[in-house]
Amino acid sequence: MKEDKEEENIDITLEQLEGTEIQHVNNPIVGLKPIEKRFLGAVKEVKQHNNKYIFSDGSASVEIMVVSDEIIKVRLAPHSVFLDEFSYAVPALDQKVAVFTFSEDDTHYTVSTNTVSCLVNKENFHISFADINSKLINEDYLAMHWEENVQFGGYYVYCTKKSYPEEAFYGLGDKPTDLNLRGKRLQNWNTDTYSFAKHQDPLYRSIPFYISLHEGVAHGIFMDNTFKTHFDFAHEDAGKTSFWADGGELQYYYIHGPHMMDVVKRYHTLTGTHKLPPLWALGYHQCRWSYYPESKLHDLAKNFRSRKIPCDALYLDIDYMDGYRCFTWNKKYFPNPKKMIKELSDDGFKTVVIIDPGIKVDDNYWVFKEGKENKYFCRRSDDYFMEGHVWPGRCQFPDFTNPEVRQWWGGLFKELVDIGVAGVWNDMNEPAVFGSGTFPDDVRHQYDGHRGSHRKAHNVYGMQMVRATYDGLKKLQKSKRPFTITRAGYAGVQRYSSVWTGDNVASWEHLKLGSLQMQRLSMSGVPFAGTDIGGFSGEPTGELFTRWIQLGVFSPFMRAHSAGDTAEREPWSFGTALEDINRKFIELRYKLLPYIYSAFWEHHRYGFPILRPIVMLEQENKTNKYREDEFTFGDKILVCPVLEEGATSRKVYLPVGNWYDYFSHQALAGGEEHQVAAPLDTMPIFVKAGSVIPEYPVMQHTNEFEIEELMFQIYFSDYEVNSFYFEDHGDTFAYEQDIYLEKKFVVNGDLKSMTIKQSVEGLFTPRYETYDLKIIGLPFLPTKVLIDGKEYLGELKFDELKRVRVKASKHFRQIVITK
Ligand code: GLC
Repeated sequence: MKEDKEEENIDITLEQLEGTEIQHVNNPIVGLKPIEKRFLGAVKEVKQHNNKYIFSDGSASVEIMVVSDEIIKVRLAPHSVFLDEFSYAVPALDQKVAVFTFSEDDTHYTVSTNTVSCLVNKENFHISFADINSKLINEDYLAMHWEENVQFGGYYVYCTKKSYPEEAFYGLGDKPTDLNLRGKRLQNWNTDTYSFAKHQDPLYRSIPFYISLHEGVAHGIFMDNTFKTHFDFAHEDAGKTSFWADGGELQYYYIHGPHMMDVVKRYHTLTGTHKLPPLWALGYHQCRWSYYPESKLHDLAKNFRSRKIPCDALYLDIDYMDGYRCFTWNKKYFPNPKKMIKELSDDGFKTVVIIDPGIKVDDNYWVFKEGKENKYFCRRSDDYFMEGHVWPGRCQFPDFTNPEVRQWWGGLFKELVDIGVAGVWNDMNEPAVFGSGTFPDDVRHQYDGHRGSHRKAHNVYGMQMVRATYDGLKKLQKSKRPFTITRAGYAGVQRYSSVWTGDNVASWEHLKLGSLQMQRLSMSGVPFAGTDIGGFSGEPTGELFTRWIQLGVFSPFMRAHSAGDTAEREPWSFGTALEDINRKFIELRYKLLPYIYSAFWEHHRYGFPILRPIVMLEQENKTNKYREDEFTFGDKILVCPVLEEGATSRKVYLPVGNWYDYFSHQALAGGEEHQVAAPLDTMPIFVKAGSVIPEYPVMQHTNEFEIEELMFQIYFSDYEVNSFYFEDHGDTFAYEQDIYLEKKFVVNGDLKSMTIKQSVEGLFTPRYETYDLKIIGLPFLPTKVLIDGKEYLGELKFDELKRVRVKASKHFRQIVITK
């Protein structure tokens, strides 16, 4: 109720209030004096400190900081006292600041970089951003404003921008709603939302970052504020976009485009990227609440291997523990976990275990005792412990915002790592509490020395938990890359973890929502995301499960998971016909692993999102603003999942350029829609002309064998196209010392010839020596192939799929194929 009231206040009063110093509006807390709503007044003074300009209206101050050529940060201090510069999202603002200038005319102060100008209106303190041609991209509609929080101290802080007709909005994390957020009002408050519904808000994660697209030009706004935050995208008023927070400082980054891709990449320069995951983490994962006892795991493993369905990881949900006590084992179900994990590992399966934040109150339980003795658990404002019921019953909760607690927590994984556990799944870390939902607002947090109530720490609690997990695993596993998965998160969570979209439902609607959520997470800086394949609650039909597996092939994180009260749900659970299709698609995931892995590298190294909605590829095309049922994985493969029950064909839009059907190799023209066949045993997937797509042979798990020869599918193009391929050890951090190979291929051709060039960077030496190149779509039968000037002596002919096969040394520089 309280929030609704506050929102109403804004609805009614904002416009009338601006320009006046103090306004009294109804205080939502009954019985307290009216809240004073204040707006910035005219600018009276400006001072410079290096790359920061402090503007003052005589009472409040605004800091404008040049972060980079394309990023400008704005902060508001209602009484001119800025808070400590500390952010969980942006670990270091060590951006290189290029040339910037300051100027003043009758109406404005202007801070300019080489690409963007920030204008401050002297009279009304409106802040706007313009490009190099003085075209306004983003403008305040109202001056920044605030109201005092009489209960907790601090302020509710508001920013209202102009919204332009047809301006589209994207991002904001995991919202299960239309891709374009125009017309919506949404909030960020991490919430355990079992069986969430379409449009439900908020869900598990808080990513207060959005991308605006107007007349083909994009920019981003990242409000780095961990309190409950709100975004109104032309909902209350078609002419306004507002964002506000229930506390903390109003600080936001303006991120220049003009391309949506650039906005996302620049957002990653602030919040970091996902490091390379271990290669095995990109395989197929099988999970359920819960697989126990031990014999169940062995059966499962046997089934995968005997049915020849590839799989890399099996999960243990909460029942592996003794009474749901984290870091313990139920010895009845798992008498010798080390032996079991070793046997699974010998068969190529990694074991991933769940760990929740709630620690059972039990003086005979070592984790509770250590936490209690060291005062690591959260307390209320009157010093009582924060207690709540979760799976183990009465629990206390570590304060993960305390670095000492994170260190302790990280160390608790020692035994699990020693016995061979390969990955950790962090759940319930919104934090979730049965009954009340989450912690009361007054719980205190250390907040890395910057203290705060739960209002401030709530949205980062889960991220700090998985950070502790990641850092702990990294230390314990020495040179191996940790694998973590978290349900809750805040902006920057990608530095520590993959995510899944939480407790979805086995329905066609949720299949669609999953596709949307993954695309949205990807463009919100959280690339390594997946849904519970099949739906967590409820029963999928075999058809729905198979369609979900197909989408899963192109989910950065591919895991099937189901609730305990559902029927067993493995790839073979729906009869042999569907098992065969599921196998075919899981095999496809494994074939494409080197491509998928390269897309993760491109993300880590260059900040590219892994999934890219169509609007990101062709943002000038207005009709793309609402296209949300297809996306590319990396920049070469277009994925058109079948999301309708009973469908045997679907409409696809191919972006401008030439495309090939992945399965049939049929060439199709881009820039238009096509109706394509999509019976249940297939799924429309297209490859961009000119692409060089690496493929592995089918393997049962990523460590099954070494690649003896690397296969590439090379798609003819009559214009030049670049492709990247990345490889390294697959599980170490040696890539940070340049022990990797990044190969660049350039393909071009015409009606008589085709050229493939390769250049290589990095120091890694793969075991294989040769490439098996399969050239697709050649408009002529070649008579001659020159590899680095030498004639190729192998046979040249089209195979049944009209491919020409050429074997070449992995060191080739140039191949010329002629008619
Ligand atoms: C939560 C998780 C779910 C898990 C269950 C039991 O509902 O979201 O994935 O299986 O708890 O641990």
